[in-house]
Amino acid sequence: MSTNDLTPVFDPGTVWLVGAGPGDPGLLTLHAFNALRQADVIVHDALVDPRILAFAREGAVLEYAGKRGGRTSVAQDSITSRLIALAEEGKRVLRLKGGDPFIFGRGGEEALALAQAGIAFRIVPGVSSGLASLAIHGIPATTRDTNHAVILATGHCAEGQATDWAALARTGAPLILYMAVTNLASIVGELLDGGLSRQTPALIVHAATTEAEAVAEAPLGDLPRLALERAIQSPAIVVVGAIAGFRSGVLDHLLLFRAEAAA
Ligand SMILES: C[S@@+](CC[C@H](N)C(=O)[O-])C[C@H]1O[C@@H](n2cnc3c(N)ncnc32)[C@H](O)[C@@H]1O
Repeated sequence: MSTNDLTPVFDPGTVWLVGAGPGDPGLLTLHAFNALRQADVIVHDALVDPRILAFAREGAVLEYAGKRGGRTSVAQDSITSRLIALAEEGKRVLRLKGGDPFIFGRGGEEALALAQAGIAFRIVPGVSSGLASLAIHGIPATTRDTNHAVILATGHCAEGQATDWAALARTGAPLILYMAVTNLASIVGELLDGGLSRQTPALIVHAATTEAEAVAEAPLGDLPRLALERAIQSPAIVVVGAIAGFRSGVLDHLLLFRAEAAA
């Protein structure tokens, strides 16, 4: 049986909103791979790994629609208009996003715009970087002994919005933070104000599953200083809570995606 037998046909005039996972092509779903092999146009974000784009079928058009990497930011409205226009031209349109399209990925906004324009679309979930960053370093998102809930939060809200970090701290649930490196010092300050101990286990995973992967681990109170010293930049996931302490117990026997990440 080929992988093509396991996935739907990509019909002309439709859009697939697909998660590309955190970077390593091995973490792509078969649906994502087959979408890459069938799409006429691939509208992708900056965080989609070039090794994944290399799976595009010959002749497919790659269009960059990201908001990072020093390149001009493309407004969300123009991205959705572009998806609609391409579908109306009868193209098979693959909207490829890093991680999972529905986790801090604006996939919801794009799905709604497509629905309102009367365009048929499919959502293909991906491995979100927050969960992948934990798993590849031997950190379970939940354990029966430590937590029955886990919080995914972003350190970068839309203008005029703010996260109540102290309230999140008071839940006692571990935090998996996306886009939190730039504001790390102030976020950690508010978490401490909310009652978390400076000794709470914490770590940062930069560029998980890619060639550039790096890990910085320190008690919460020291994490911002360590991040500065190591010059940890976006993209990165910050993990706060007892689950982060799990890593030290498994590290000696854990086969890493990137050997250098053990430091
Ligand atoms: C706009 S959000 C997109 C999240 C994505 N939809 C997901 O599910 O992973 C971008 C943020 O995701 C995180 N991120 C994405 N890829 C990452 C990776 N390979 N390693 C660590 N963090 C990553 C970073 O926090 C980055 O700033």
